[in-house]
Amino acid sequence: MNDPLYPGPMTTNAEPKNTITEALSAWVRAAFVQQFGDDLDLSGIGVVETANSQFGDYQCNAAMSLAKVLKQAPRAISEALVANAPAHPAVDRLEVAGPGFINIFLSDAWLLESVAAIEDDSQLGVPTKGEGHTVVVDYSSPNVAKPMHIGHIRSTIIGNAIDRLHRFLGYRVIADNHIGDWGTQFGIIIMGYRHFLDKAALEASPVAALERVYVKSYEKSREDEAWLTQCRQELVKLQAGDPDNTALWREFIGLSLKEFDRIYSRLGVTFDEVRGESYYNDKLAGTVQLLEEKGLAEESEGATVVFLEEEKLPVCIVRKSDGGFNYATTDITTVASRIEEFAPDKIVYVTDERQQLHFKQFFTICGKLGYETDLQHVWFGLMRLPDATFSTRQGNVIKLEHLLDEAEQRAFDIVSTSSPEMPEDKRREVARAVGIGAVKYADLSQNPQTTVTFTWDKALALDGNSGPYLQYAYARIASVHDKYTERFPDGDLDAHGLVLTEPVERELVMKLLRFPDVVIRAAEAYKPSTVADYLYDLAQCYSTFYQNVPFLKAEEGVRESRVKLCGVTAKVLRRGLALLGIETPDRI
Ligand code: ARG
Repeated sequence: MNDPLYPGPMTTNAEPKNTITEALSAWVRAAFVQQFGDDLDLSGIGVVETANSQFGDYQCNAAMSLAKVLKQAPRAISEALVANAPAHPAVDRLEVAGPGFINIFLSDAWLLESVAAIEDDSQLGVPTKGEGHTVVVDYSSPNVAKPMHIGHIRSTIIGNAIDRLHRFLGYRVIADNHIGDWGTQFGIIIMGYRHFLDKAALEASPVAALERVYVKSYEKSREDEAWLTQCRQELVKLQAGDPDNTALWREFIGLSLKEFDRIYSRLGVTFDEVRGESYYNDKLAGTVQLLEEKGLAEESEGATVVFLEEEKLPVCIVRKSDGGFNYATTDITTVASRIEEFAPDKIVYVTDERQQLHFKQFFTICGKLGYETDLQHVWFGLMRLPDATFSTRQGNVIKLEHLLDEAEQRAFDIVSTSSPEMPEDKRREVARAVGIGAVKYADLSQNPQTTVTFTWDKALALDGNSGPYLQYAYARIASVHDKYTERFPDGDLDAHGLVLTEPVERELVMKLLRFPDVVIRAAEAYKPSTVADYLYDLAQCYSTFYQNVPFLKAEEGVRESRVKLCGVTAKVLRRGLALLGIETPDRI
């Protein structure tokens, strides 16, 4: 893929390196083995970043948890360890603090060497841990003939960030848009389409028109028995492959995808597969048969069900009494099909919180079937929008597109104020990146499992934790280099090494070197907000640095070093935002 926002790994390090946390943790474990022998259970023993550099750059709390097995006071354990620990190139000194914490202070020389190494590394020190591993990310997944609701939009934004994080770590990612293109609703839609369709409305806004005929036909089916029977007959015909109904169904899919694609392209989202539920149709009966053969499914009141009492979960119907299959049957089949085709190490599903039970049920059934792939449901809470929360009924695609339109319009006003001299088409282009970035960041910067209220003031604030703030910070940082060349046309950055002269400078370097751990943590926990939090911290750290030390007025050598540090900071910000799917215009 050429999209710079879809960063495939392009490591310049031949060997994928460890992150600082990993390297120091391994070293601490080795020191424990050396000191106390290798019978010790060291799982879970490692170092953590400190929040306050007064207590070192990293800290190890292992002595507290090992005190019992070692039958020694934590302080004594730490003191023995510190006295005898083997040398590590990164470590300047160790200190035992409080009840027995080991504070680890890194050496300035090592920090400088490490930050210089990431200067020319497109991976910015992030190891390609995922190499040789495959992950399927099942996200967005709206339903045909229904508008995308806010749950789908969040799934699209969060799922896409999870996709990008994994790609950057070197995973082979299969992004699959599992659209809802099959189900009993199609009988109802076909009847609605044949009897109530407003052709002009369909042209103007296809999905909204389809949704309208669905609602009308559905309502009629509830009071008109004959209508309901006809809907069922149309469904049966479709299921049997009737050419007219199949053609209509395909038309619904085509119209819906065209509209969804418009949103995806505005959001910079692409998929490797758009399989949809119908892709698995001819395998569903086989899945039920397999469940029966394995003694997992049984007949109950005419239906075929899997009891999950032991797991304290409600019964899961895999074939209804009318012979139809369920959402769960499709999902179990999808897992089997993905295992067969992609042999993924994990499959990650991104949906709203209302589907938790469904995922628990079919994950459990997959476990019983012996599927070993790691299955993860990443769920998120509702997002409240200024007037109302979108729901399938009232919300529609138009509204969502309006949200993006309004974001761009508001961003255009901001850009026009900050850069009035910029030509209008350029301002529009920047406003697009800022507006979309603001909407995405407002979503991604939140803990996904809480209810979030979206407000324009917060999303677009130039002085708070927002997308535009970070984009603006990036543009300012990136411009330092130009200012340098302007003032010192003969200056040669490469002729100078990096130096650390001020505590704020050291803090910035330490922060930059934490990026790899942040990316890994975010991917492992499926939490893009980890990256957002880090980027905001980094921008603030930079700002303290910028405000407290002279740049262009510093003496030669120090000046070049600081300009280069700006360069690394800009790169990390740009890459970090790209991992969230957010563009970084050079000017705002
Ligand atoms: N189409 C579903 C919905 O809108 C989401 C599908 C999620 N993916 C899955 N494999 N179940 O609720």
